[in-house]
Amino acid sequence: MQPEPRATSEANPTRTVLAPTHGRRATWLGSSVARCAVDNSTVNLIWSSTVDARLREQLASIWVAATNAGGALGFLPPVTSQDIAELADKTFDRVADGLDDLLVAFLAEEPIGWLVLERDARSYAGHWRTLKRLQVHPAHQGNGYATALMEEARRFARDELGLEFLVLTVRDGTGVAGMYERLGYREVGRVPSVMRVAENDDRDEIYMVQSLADSSDVARSRRR
Ligand SMILES: CC(C)(COP(=O)(O)OP(=O)(O)OC[C@H]1O[C@@H](n2cnc3c(N)ncnc32)[C@H](O)[C@@H]1OP(=O)(O)O)[C@@H](O)C(=O)NCCC(=O)NCCS
Repeated sequence: MQPEPRATSEANPTRTVLAPTHGRRATWLGSSVARCAVDNSTVNLIWSSTVDARLREQLASIWVAATNAGGALGFLPPVTSQDIAELADKTFDRVADGLDDLLVAFLAEEPIGWLVLERDARSYAGHWRTLKRLQVHPAHQGNGYATALMEEARRFARDELGLEFLVLTVRDGTGVAGMYERLGYREVGRVPSVMRVAENDDRDEIYMVQSLADSSDVARSRRR
């Protein structure tokens, strides 16, 4: 039987960070490459602070498709691009305003997945971000691209933004919490029954956190 294609992420030796990661930035902040181990297709993971009309439309259409395939991205299916437009505009405006960081996975120039690292508005909460909107187009799911996006987000958050931890929330019962656990997140709490996804079907919102200190940092700080 043909093995499922998987993507492995690797540091791109030519990766460059062109601009400081605070405030107004250049269009292109850096990138890394994820390579599908079976067919060797290459997915470029690119941080962008420019979200032009075309990219907005492409990312929003992934949002619609992933939601309508059962994804938990702030809406219940079925949705249209009109349904998500207000939240999509807010999401991309924050990126364009330099508040949040957007990571897009491109397969042959076509965006196939993305996520956002959202900044907390409080001045004393600059040492962490919320990872939001992780999504891969249904036609490309199961190839390891979400894993590659998450690994690049972790690297960028730690090495470029200097963050100490990442937070995310998950709708219980979707199975995605298990994926996040395998990626190093742990559950730190949940708000019971805040999502009524259907009659008699209330779901908890699970809060998960990943520390960005690697084990050698932890060992070093323990020795002090
Ligand atoms: C969740 C999602 C991003 C995963 O994308 P993907 O590219 O298919 O994920 P990967 O191929 O990297 O798979 C990573 C692992 O998670 C598992 N996984 C992926 N989606 C899963 C799901 N919905 N439920 C349970 N496990 C899942 C995979 O089996 C894989 O496990 P393995 O490493 O043990 O083989 C994608 O299914 C999606 O876009 N869903 C809709 C949006 C959504 O719900 N996002 C999460 C918001 S909290």
